[in-house]
Amino acid sequence: MAAATQQLAWGRFTLRRDAWWLQPLLVILGLGGFGLYSTYRVFENAHYVAGLYQSPLGSPDLRGYVPWLQAFVPFTISPALLILPFPLLFRLTCYYYRKAYYRSFFTMPPACAVRGASSHAYPGERGIFLLQNLHRFFLYLAILILVILWYDTALAFGLETGHLVVGLGGFLFLGNVILLSGYTFGCHSLRHLVGGKLDCYSCDEGSKARYKVWQRVSWLNTNHMGWAWASLFSIWAVDLFVRFLDIGLIRDVRLL
Ligand code: FES
Repeated sequence: MAAATQQLAWGRFTLRRDAWWLQPLLVILGLGGFGLYSTYRVFENAHYVAGLYQSPLGSPDLRGYVPWLQAFVPFTISPALLILPFPLLFRLTCYYYRKAYYRSFFTMPPACAVRGASSHAYPGERGIFLLQNLHRFFLYLAILILVILWYDTALAFGLETGHLVVGLGGFLFLGNVILLSGYTFGCHSLRHLVGGKLDCYSCDEGSKARYKVWQRVSWLNTNHMGWAWASLFSIWAVDLFVRFLDIGLIRDVRLL
Protein backbone atom coordinates (compact mmCIF):
# COMPACT_ATOMS: atom_id res chain seq x y z
CA MET A 1 0.00 0.00 0.00
CA ALA A 2 2.78 2.40 1.04
CA ALA A 3 4.74 1.49 -2.11
CA ALA A 4 1.68 2.09 -4.29
CA THR A 5 1.08 5.52 -2.66
CA GLN A 6 4.73 6.43 -3.15
CA GLN A 7 4.57 5.33 -6.79
CA LEU A 8 1.47 7.47 -7.31
CA ALA A 9 3.18 10.52 -5.79
CA TRP A 10 6.30 9.89 -7.89
CA GLY A 11 4.14 9.52 -10.98
CA ARG A 12 3.01 13.13 -10.62
CA PHE A 13 6.56 14.16 -11.53
CA THR A 14 7.58 11.49 -13.99
CA LEU A 15 6.94 8.00 -15.24
CA ARG A 16 10.66 7.41 -15.72
CA ARG A 17 12.14 4.64 -13.61
CA ASP A 18 15.82 5.09 -14.50
CA ALA A 19 18.32 7.15 -12.45
CA TRP A 20 17.46 10.47 -14.18
CA TRP A 21 18.15 12.30 -10.89
CA LEU A 22 21.79 11.23 -10.77
CA GLN A 23 23.11 13.78 -13.29
CA PRO A 24 21.41 16.82 -11.67
CA LEU A 25 22.63 15.62 -8.29
CA LEU A 26 26.25 15.33 -9.51
CA VAL A 27 26.02 18.82 -11.03
CA ILE A 28 24.79 20.25 -7.73
CA LEU A 29 27.63 18.53 -5.87
CA GLY A 30 30.28 19.59 -8.42
CA LEU A 31 29.23 23.19 -9.02
CA GLY A 32 28.04 23.72 -5.46
CA GLY A 33 31.28 22.29 -4.06
CA PHE A 34 33.44 24.44 -6.28
CA GLY A 35 31.31 27.50 -5.50
CA LEU A 36 31.70 26.99 -1.76
CA TYR A 37 35.42 26.28 -2.03
CA SER A 38 36.18 29.32 -4.22
CA THR A 39 34.11 31.59 -1.94
CA TYR A 40 36.12 30.31 1.01
CA ARG A 41 39.36 30.99 -0.86
CA VAL A 42 38.28 34.53 -1.73
CA PHE A 43 37.74 35.34 1.93
CA GLU A 44 40.69 33.34 3.19
CA ASN A 45 42.77 35.75 1.12
CA ALA A 46 46.08 33.90 1.52
CA HIS A 47 48.29 31.15 0.04
CA TYR A 48 47.91 32.14 -3.62
CA VAL A 49 51.63 31.86 -4.26
CA ALA A 50 54.12 29.11 -3.37
CA GLY A 51 57.62 29.44 -4.81
CA LEU A 52 57.34 29.47 -8.60
CA TYR A 53 53.66 28.69 -8.53
CA GLN A 54 50.84 31.22 -8.72
CA SER A 55 47.37 29.80 -8.13
CA PRO A 56 44.94 30.24 -11.07
CA LEU A 57 42.32 31.44 -8.59
CA GLY A 58 44.39 34.56 -7.91
CA SER A 59 46.02 35.17 -11.28
CA PRO A 60 46.56 37.77 -12.54
CA ASP A 61 46.87 39.77 -9.32
CA LEU A 62 45.14 43.02 -10.27
CA ARG A 63 45.43 44.77 -6.91
CA GLY A 64 48.39 46.84 -8.05
CA TYR A 65 46.30 48.27 -10.92
CA VAL A 66 43.37 49.44 -8.80
CA PRO A 67 44.82 50.34 -5.37
CA TRP A 68 42.10 52.97 -4.80
CA LEU A 69 39.48 50.19 -4.59
CA GLN A 70 40.73 49.24 -1.14
CA ALA A 71 39.45 52.55 0.25
CA PHE A 72 35.84 51.48 -0.38
CA VAL A 73 35.76 48.23 1.63
CA PRO A 74 36.56 47.48 5.29
CA PHE A 75 38.49 44.24 4.51
CA THR A 76 41.70 43.50 2.63
CA ILE A 77 40.83 42.80 -0.99
CA SER A 78 42.07 39.44 -2.21
CA PRO A 79 43.35 38.92 -5.78
CA ALA A 80 40.68 36.25 -6.27
CA LEU A 81 37.93 38.77 -5.58
CA LEU A 82 39.13 40.95 -8.45
CA ILE A 83 39.77 38.28 -11.06
CA LEU A 84 37.32 35.45 -10.32
CA PRO A 85 34.15 37.30 -11.46
CA PHE A 86 35.35 37.19 -15.09
CA PRO A 87 35.92 33.43 -15.49
CA LEU A 88 32.87 32.90 -13.32
CA LEU A 89 30.68 34.95 -15.70
CA PHE A 90 32.26 33.11 -18.63
CA ARG A 91 31.20 29.78 -17.11
CA LEU A 92 27.81 30.99 -15.90
CA THR A 93 26.87 32.11 -19.41
CA CYS A 94 28.42 29.03 -21.09
CA TYR A 95 25.88 27.11 -23.19
CA TYR A 96 26.68 23.83 -21.46
CA TYR A 97 26.59 25.17 -17.90
CA ARG A 98 23.30 26.94 -18.59
CA LYS A 99 21.71 23.60 -19.37
CA ALA A 100 23.34 22.05 -16.32
CA TYR A 101 22.24 24.59 -13.76
CA TYR A 102 18.83 25.29 -15.28
CA ARG A 103 18.17 21.59 -14.78
CA SER A 104 19.91 20.99 -11.47
CA PHE A 105 19.37 24.15 -9.49
CA PHE A 106 16.19 25.59 -11.06
CA THR A 107 14.59 22.25 -12.10
CA MET A 108 13.38 23.76 -15.39
CA PRO A 109 12.91 20.77 -15.84
CA PRO A 110 15.45 18.53 -14.03
CA ALA A 111 15.53 15.98 -16.89
CA CYS A 112 13.63 15.00 -20.03
CA ALA A 113 10.06 13.86 -19.30
CA VAL A 114 10.33 14.94 -15.64
CA ARG A 115 8.18 17.74 -14.30
CA GLY A 116 10.15 20.49 -12.56
CA ALA A 117 9.59 21.26 -8.92
CA SER A 118 9.83 24.96 -9.75
CA SER A 119 6.43 26.68 -9.62
CA HIS A 120 7.39 28.89 -12.58
CA ALA A 121 7.49 27.57 -16.12
CA TYR A 122 10.77 28.12 -17.97
CA PRO A 123 10.40 31.66 -19.33
CA GLY A 124 13.17 31.42 -21.94
CA GLU A 125 16.25 33.60 -21.81
CA ARG A 126 14.45 36.84 -21.17
CA GLY A 127 14.56 39.26 -18.26
CA ILE A 128 17.73 38.75 -16.21
CA PHE A 129 18.65 35.81 -18.46
CA LEU A 130 19.17 38.25 -21.33
CA LEU A 131 22.63 38.70 -19.81
CA GLN A 132 23.46 35.23 -21.16
CA ASN A 133 23.88 36.94 -24.53
CA LEU A 134 27.03 38.62 -23.24
CA HIS A 135 28.82 35.27 -23.36
CA ARG A 136 30.87 36.27 -26.39
CA PHE A 137 32.37 39.22 -24.53
CA PHE A 138 33.26 37.06 -21.53
CA LEU A 139 34.95 34.75 -24.02
CA TYR A 140 37.32 37.56 -25.06
CA LEU A 141 38.22 38.15 -21.41
CA ALA A 142 38.63 34.41 -20.80
CA ILE A 143 41.11 34.18 -23.70
CA LEU A 144 43.07 37.07 -22.22
CA ILE A 145 43.21 35.36 -18.81
CA LEU A 146 44.17 32.09 -20.51
CA VAL A 147 47.22 33.76 -22.06
CA ILE A 148 48.27 34.88 -18.56
CA LEU A 149 47.77 31.36 -17.19
CA TRP A 150 50.01 29.99 -19.95
CA TYR A 151 52.60 32.54 -18.85
CA ASP A 152 52.18 31.36 -15.23
CA THR A 153 52.83 27.83 -16.49
CA ALA A 154 56.06 28.99 -18.15
CA LEU A 155 57.03 30.56 -14.81
CA ALA A 156 56.28 27.24 -13.09
CA PHE A 157 58.90 25.67 -15.38
CA GLY A 158 61.44 28.26 -14.28
CA LEU A 159 61.13 30.96 -16.97
CA GLU A 160 62.42 33.65 -14.64
CA THR A 161 65.05 31.54 -12.89
CA GLY A 162 67.29 31.17 -15.93
CA HIS A 163 67.21 27.37 -15.84
CA LEU A 164 64.62 24.67 -16.48
CA VAL A 165 62.66 23.55 -13.43
CA VAL A 166 60.72 20.31 -13.77
CA GLY A 167 58.48 19.49 -10.86
CA LEU A 168 55.10 18.02 -10.09
CA GLY A 169 53.69 21.55 -9.90
CA GLY A 170 54.82 22.33 -13.45
CA PHE A 171 53.01 19.28 -14.80
CA LEU A 172 49.86 20.16 -12.86
CA PHE A 173 49.97 23.69 -14.25
CA LEU A 174 50.52 22.37 -17.76
CA GLY A 175 47.63 19.92 -17.52
CA ASN A 176 45.42 22.70 -16.20
CA VAL A 177 46.11 25.16 -19.04
CA ILE A 178 45.69 22.42 -21.65
CA LEU A 179 42.27 21.55 -20.20
CA LEU A 180 41.33 25.23 -19.93
CA SER A 181 42.38 25.77 -23.54
CA GLY A 182 40.29 22.78 -24.67
CA TYR A 183 37.31 24.24 -22.85
CA THR A 184 37.79 27.84 -24.03
CA PHE A 185 38.59 27.04 -27.67
CA GLY A 186 35.65 24.65 -27.92
CA CYS A 187 33.24 27.45 -27.03
CA HIS A 188 30.01 27.61 -29.07
CA SER A 189 30.42 31.38 -29.49
CA LEU A 190 33.94 30.95 -30.84
CA ARG A 191 32.66 28.34 -33.27
CA HIS A 192 30.20 30.88 -34.61
CA LEU A 193 32.83 33.61 -34.66
CA VAL A 194 35.28 31.64 -36.78
CA GLY A 195 32.82 29.81 -39.03
CA GLY A 196 29.60 31.79 -38.99
CA LYS A 197 28.19 34.17 -41.62
CA LEU A 198 29.98 32.38 -44.45
CA ASP A 199 28.05 31.15 -47.48
CA CYS A 200 30.94 29.27 -48.99
CA TYR A 201 33.80 27.39 -47.31
CA SER A 202 35.87 26.88 -50.44
CA CYS A 203 35.51 30.07 -52.48
CA ASP A 204 38.76 31.76 -51.53
CA GLU A 205 41.81 31.26 -49.33
CA GLY A 206 40.26 33.21 -46.43
CA SER A 207 37.11 31.07 -46.29
CA LYS A 208 39.18 27.86 -46.63
CA ALA A 209 41.34 28.92 -43.68
CA ARG A 210 38.27 29.76 -41.61
CA TYR A 211 36.76 26.39 -42.45
CA LYS A 212 39.87 24.64 -41.14
CA VAL A 213 39.76 26.61 -37.88
CA TRP A 214 36.02 25.95 -37.59
CA GLN A 215 36.66 22.20 -37.95
CA ARG A 216 39.15 22.28 -35.07
CA VAL A 217 36.88 24.32 -32.83
CA SER A 218 34.01 21.95 -33.72
CA TRP A 219 36.16 18.97 -32.76
CA LEU A 220 36.76 20.48 -29.31
CA ASN A 221 33.13 21.53 -29.09
CA THR A 222 31.92 17.93 -29.56
CA ASN A 223 32.84 17.17 -25.96
CA HIS A 224 32.41 20.62 -24.48
CA MET A 225 30.83 19.18 -21.36
CA GLY A 226 33.86 16.96 -20.70
CA TRP A 227 36.30 19.89 -21.12
CA ALA A 228 34.08 22.02 -18.87
CA TRP A 229 34.19 19.59 -15.98
CA ALA A 230 37.81 18.51 -16.40
CA SER A 231 39.02 22.12 -16.46
CA LEU A 232 36.90 23.06 -13.44
CA PHE A 233 38.40 20.23 -11.40
CA SER A 234 41.92 20.95 -12.64
CA ILE A 235 41.68 24.56 -11.42
CA TRP A 236 40.51 23.21 -8.09
CA ALA A 237 43.37 20.70 -7.93
CA VAL A 238 46.06 23.26 -8.86
CA ASP A 239 44.79 25.74 -6.30
CA LEU A 240 44.76 23.06 -3.61
CA PHE A 241 48.30 22.08 -4.60
CA VAL A 242 49.57 25.67 -4.28
CA ARG A 243 47.72 26.21 -1.02
CA PHE A 244 48.98 22.96 0.57
CA LEU A 245 52.49 23.72 -0.64
CA ASP A 246 52.42 27.19 0.88
CA ILE A 247 51.17 26.04 4.28
CA GLY A 248 53.79 23.25 4.30
CA LEU A 249 51.36 20.35 4.15
CA ILE A 250 53.02 18.84 1.06
CA ARG A 251 56.32 19.20 -0.83
CA ASP A 252 56.89 19.60 -4.52
CA VAL A 253 58.50 16.64 -6.30
CA ARG A 254 61.39 17.98 -8.41
CA LEU A 255 62.95 16.04 -11.27
CA LEU A 256 65.21 18.90 -12.36
S1 FES B 1 29.65 27.82 -24.78
FE1 FES B 1 30.73 26.97 -23.14
S2 FES B 1 32.48 28.25 -23.02
FE2 FES B 1 31.29 29.18 -24.60
